[in-house]
Amino acid sequence: MAILLTGGTGFIGSHTAVELINAKQDVVIADDLSNSKAEIVDKIEQITGKRPAFRQLDVTDKAGLDAMFNEFQIEGVIHFAGFKAVGESVAKPIEYYRNNLDSMLSVLEVMRAHQCRKLIFSSSATVYGANSESPFKETAPTGNCTNPYGWTKYMIEQILFGVAQADPDMSIVLLRYFNPIGAHESGLIGERPNGIPNNLLPYLTQTVIGIRDHLSVFGNDYPTHDGTGVRDFIHVVDLAKGHVAAFDYARKHTGAEVFNLGTGIGYSVLDVIKAFEQANGVKVKYQFCPRRPGDIATCYSDPSKAKELLHWQAEKNLVDMCRDAWRWQQNC
Ligand code: WQD
Repeated sequence: MAILLTGGTGFIGSHTAVELINAKQDVVIADDLSNSKAEIVDKIEQITGKRPAFRQLDVTDKAGLDAMFNEFQIEGVIHFAGFKAVGESVAKPIEYYRNNLDSMLSVLEVMRAHQCRKLIFSSSATVYGANSESPFKETAPTGNCTNPYGWTKYMIEQILFGVAQADPDMSIVLLRYFNPIGAHESGLIGERPNGIPNNLLPYLTQTVIGIRDHLSVFGNDYPTHDGTGVRDFIHVVDLAKGHVAAFDYARKHTGAEVFNLGTGIGYSVLDVIKAFEQANGVKVKYQFCPRRPGDIATCYSDPSKAKELLHWQAEKNLVDMCRDAWRWQQNC
């Protein structure tokens, strides 16, 4: 039986496809290629020696999804597909709510029709909002999100808790990602942002390669060790391995369970700049700027639940993340 990855040619989806195939799982990908390229399937094959089945499909297309469930024997779904740009979600709330909620509901309806009951969902640390202090435990209050993107993650979490309650045979794992960065060490797959990057690492690597003039560091007056924002950066390959562990967990447990996927370590923006310079022997041109609206000072995880129950923990360090991000930027 195969695991269906919606959004499987995206940044996290493609790395997860690689780790699942490495773990001897059959992978089927559905992706509309709105934010990725078909050639990613070739790269996954190059890395693993095995080509996942691929169908170009917008998963809000229920008939198309149904056809995939008829074509393949789907054991469970890892649902990555969705719009993910925080700033864009503020400008286009209707599109974000429509797309992200619709795609999740379509997947759930088609799964139900085919009695497919294992689901892993890409949630985000953004659901914690500014409600409590780091390190965030899974039991920390959620909601109070600062943008529509975050609200779609929050709302889908609520939907999934309801679905698990209504069908006691469902196995649902909600993974709250912290800040995924880095790329596969082969340099063949990585993050490919559309237009001007919003996130720190793609902006930083594009600055060093000369596409951007300088990196703006948003705020140096936060109550952190050097005044810049602190985040829990996690290597995307570690994150991908977390999905392999989560699917295994879903095979053995029913109900809905939430896990943080982070390292538990907070690094500041300046820590990242310094690590990047040291790891790669380059200089990062940056300037301090005012705080970015909606940012919090510090956000990092308590990853102990995933360690205990998924038997998973992040293994790569900040230098690995910086080195792999730079290799990818030079290749892509
Ligand atoms: C990290 C730090 C910035 C850019 C967001 C979403 C979250 C998830 C991951 C996914 C902050 C600072 C950034 C720059 C900077 N979304 N920064 N200059 O905001 O923690 O999380 O991405 O799809 O839901 O909210 O990540 O990388 O944007 O910022 O100084 O040019 O870097 O202020 O302190 P964030 P980020």
